[in-house]
Amino acid sequence: MGFVFSRRPGAARPVSWLAAGALILIVVGCSGDPYPQSTLHPVADMSGAIDGLYRQIVWWAVGVFVVVQTALVVTVIRFRRRPDQPEPRHVYGNTLAEVTWTLAPAVILVFIAVPTIQTIFRVSGRASPGALQVEVIGHQWWWEYRYPELGIVTATELHLPQGREVALALTSADVIHSFWAPKLAGKRDAQPGRTTRLAFTPDSVGTFLGQCAEFCGESHANMRLRVVVEPAADFDAWAARQAEAPAVDSTAALQVAGLEAFRRIRDPGQHTCIACHTIAGVSGGVAGPNLTHVGSRQTIAGGTLPNDSAGLARWLRNAPGEKPGSLMPKIALSDDEVAALVAYLRSRQ
Ligand code: CUA
Repeated sequence: MGFVFSRRPGAARPVSWLAAGALILIVVGCSGDPYPQSTLHPVADMSGAIDGLYRQIVWWAVGVFVVVQTALVVTVIRFRRRPDQPEPRHVYGNTLAEVTWTLAPAVILVFIAVPTIQTIFRVSGRASPGALQVEVIGHQWWWEYRYPELGIVTATELHLPQGREVALALTSADVIHSFWAPKLAGKRDAQPGRTTRLAFTPDSVGTFLGQCAEFCGESHANMRLRVVVEPAADFDAWAARQAEAPAVDSTAALQVAGLEAFRRIRDPGQHTCIACHTIAGVSGGVAGPNLTHVGSRQTIAGGTLPNDSAGLARWLRNAPGEKPGSLMPKIALSDDEVAALVAYLRSRQ
C-alpha cells in the first residue's frame, strides 16, 4: 500500500511513515478496548479514587518538570560562554533561593500527602452494612467466590450488580495470592489464615478482566479472573439460576452418559471427578471448582480456556498440559467419555 508518491526518491518517506503511524493508531483505537487491564479507565469508585490521585500527582510532576526544564534551558542560553567574556562573579549562598527550594518541595509534598492519605483510608475495604457480601478464596490456580447470603458457590467469574456496593472478604486455601481487577479496584492480598477486605461499587456494566498479582507458583500467570457487572435485574436472575441445581435431560443420552462418567469410581491410582468437584445433588468434593453451573461460565481452567466443547475437551484430556502444576491430574479418559463429560458439563447452565 502506498501513501504518498513523489518523483523525488526518498521525499515521500517521512510522509509515508507518518501516514502509516496514523493508520496504526486508528486501527488500534478501533479494535475495541486495547487495554482491558488498564488502571486508567476506572469503572468503580475505588479504582476512580486511585486514578484521581494518580492524575493529581502526574500534574504536580508535570509542573515541576516544566519549571525545572524552563530554568535549565533559560540558564544554558542566557548564561552561556561568550567570546572575550570576563570571569563571572562568584556567588556564595543566597538565602532567598535556598529557602525557596527547601519550602517549595515541602509544600508540594503536603499537597501530595494529604490526598494520598485520604485515598488510603477510602480504599481500606470498609463497607456499609447493606453491601453485597462475597467471600473470595484464592487457590493454586483459580479463584473461588462464595455468596453466603445467596447460597451460591462459583469460580473464576465474579458476578456483581451494577451500582451496589460489594464487600469482598479475601482468604487463601494454600499460598498468598493477590486479587486484582484493575478497572474496578486496587490489588489486595489473599492470605491463608487471615481475612483481608476490598469494598467498591461498580458503576458500569461489562466484563472486566483481572488476574492474580502475587507470584504463587508455577501457574501464577494462569490464575486469571473476570468480573461480570450486570444491571441489578440481570444479576438477580443470574443469582436465582445459580441457587438451583440444573436437572439432567434424561432424553439426552450423551448427558446421561456424562453424568455416569462424572460419578464413575475409577481403578486405584486413577482419579475420579466426584472426589474433587461439587455438583449440587451429585457430589461434594471441594479440592477443585464447584461445577454445578460450570456451563454458564465464559471460561474454564482459571480463565485460561474458552468454555466451549473444544476447550473443555482439551482440559479433560490433559489438564497439567494446559495449566502446568495443575492439581487436576491427567486422567485416562476414552474419547467417548470425554465427549459425554463435555455434553454433561456444558448442560450445567
Ligand atoms: Cu495466585 Cu499468583
